[in-house]
Amino acid sequence: MKIPLLNLVGQYQKLKEEIDAAVAGVLNHGRYIMGPEVRAFEASVEQSQNVKHAIGVASGSDALLLSLAALGIGPGDKVIVPTFTFFATASAVSRLGSIPVFVDIDPLNYNLDLNQVEAILKKDTGIKAIIPVHLFGQPCDMERIMALAQAYNLQVIEDACQAINADIFFNNEKPSPVGDEAGLTSKVSRLTSNPLRPTRKAGCIGDTGCFSFFPSKNLGGFGDGGMIVTNNDRLAEKLRVLRVHGSKPKYFHQVVGYNSRLDTLQAAILKVKLKYLDEWTNQRMAVARQYHQEFQNQGLTDKVVIPEVTPGHVFHQYVIQVAERDQLAAYLTDQGIGTTVYYPKPLHLQACYAKLDYKAGDLPVAEDLCHKVLALPIDPDLTPEQINYIVTNIKQFIAL
Ligand SMILES: Cc1ncc(COP(=O)(O)O)c(C=O)c1O
Repeated sequence: MKIPLLNLVGQYQKLKEEIDAAVAGVLNHGRYIMGPEVRAFEASVEQSQNVKHAIGVASGSDALLLSLAALGIGPGDKVIVPTFTFFATASAVSRLGSIPVFVDIDPLNYNLDLNQVEAILKKDTGIKAIIPVHLFGQPCDMERIMALAQAYNLQVIEDACQAINADIFFNNEKPSPVGDEAGLTSKVSRLTSNPLRPTRKAGCIGDTGCFSFFPSKNLGGFGDGGMIVTNNDRLAEKLRVLRVHGSKPKYFHQVVGYNSRLDTLQAAILKVKLKYLDEWTNQRMAVARQYHQEFQNQGLTDKVVIPEVTPGHVFHQYVIQVAERDQLAAYLTDQGIGTTVYYPKPLHLQACYAKLDYKAGDLPVAEDLCHKVLALPIDPDLTPEQINYIVTNIKQFIAL
């Protein structure tokens, strides 16, 4: 059996007619930069994610950069970021001359350890902003983050690049995990049958939220693309100006901005795909539930750490923790199963941040997880047989 980590071409083939028609529409009208599809897609995101403004930009990385710039974060300002995330979360901070303050993560949900965040905020009065990352599609505790932001006067930029469409529950609304320990069964049935979904979505709670449409994302384009969402009218206006060289009207520059627009072609493709996002999200959760059950049925949960499930998780990735991770990955490759490691090195130990003077041992949870994490295939179309094959192979490796 061959099971790739992702099957992007398969997804295109299913939607070929609709996508080809959308692309042809753009090729025929020729407004390749800021054509009407950009605004149409933005409006669809506003509606589906229940947010006032959506502003298409060139990538998720730029969404973070422009957000920080619009919020006035600049040289010397300190910004809290998790050390266990994709590099762009921190590089956006550095590109503005600001200083990333790296914080360790919770070992089970992979998001910022908020006790450590609070301890830093108590000691260091120079922190201006925080970038919580909803890593692997698992929502951060935004209720606590917003309370900290209010107490310490922080700007909040949500990195929801991996978490578009994730529901955010505040404490009094969390569905109780009835029936199964992980709460996944109840979560899946809630999402498929309960019309009372919360109206808060990842990215739409902080000052701004950032989405990436990198092809492998839950909503992926056919190239780079990104989006900023906000409920703040003034910020939205600033961001719309910043993405077009700071000009308004054209050729009259209010500020030094960026060239960071979402391509019309990408917007046209993404607008087609957005219609399927709820369905794909539910399928991903069903796949995650099957993995959970398979790991439990095969008696592996003492050898393999399976993901914790916070309500709202959209399973951008299904990441396990195992000893001898690299050997397991090689074994699975030999069996035709694609896997990958997100992430092999925490950001505070990256060469480009040597000048910040972190050392090994400073943020031990992330450092340890970098040796253990392994992302398994999480295509919405994975079948129970494929999941059984993957977990059976993991069991065989462990028995070797
Ligand atoms: C957590 C996170 N932040 C930021 C980004 C940057 O997004 P992009 O690749 O669209 O620039 C990504 C994805 O690549 C990501 O996963």
